[in-house]
Amino acid sequence: MGRFSLSNIYMDKICIAEKLGLFADHWNPRIVAELNGQHVKLAKFKGEFVWHKHDDEDELFYVLEGSFCMQFRDKNVALNKGDMLVVPRGVEHRPVAKEEVSVMLFEPAATVNTGNAGGELTREKLDTI
Ligand code: NI
Repeated sequence: MGRFSLSNIYMDKICIAEKLGLFADHWNPRIVAELNGQHVKLAKFKGEFVWHKHDDEDELFYVLEGSFCMQFRDKNVALNKGDMLVVPRGVEHRPVAKEEVSVMLFEPAATVNTGNAGGELTREKLDTI
């Protein structure tokens, strides 16, 4: 008889393609896993997001499909499929996607997508898929 452990819920593989097929809206991240107080999220971007920063959290962006540009106040970084970028805490940034892009995010569970900016694109409570 094995001991029941909550961690068992993460011992099946997660199919990213399947998860991406479960939603179609933009700028509305979904949680697909949690570890060490961090969330692994999937999101689809299209268009321009808002300028914002996160005072206490670094954010990781990993491009799964498509491409987008991460704008900083002093430069733009073009990101294509397979590229990854870490935005340090406190640094203003704005993702812009000419076409739809699918992105994996890795960041502390407390991170709010619009950081200090707030506004209508803010998603405080994310669905887990
Ligand atoms: Ni951000």
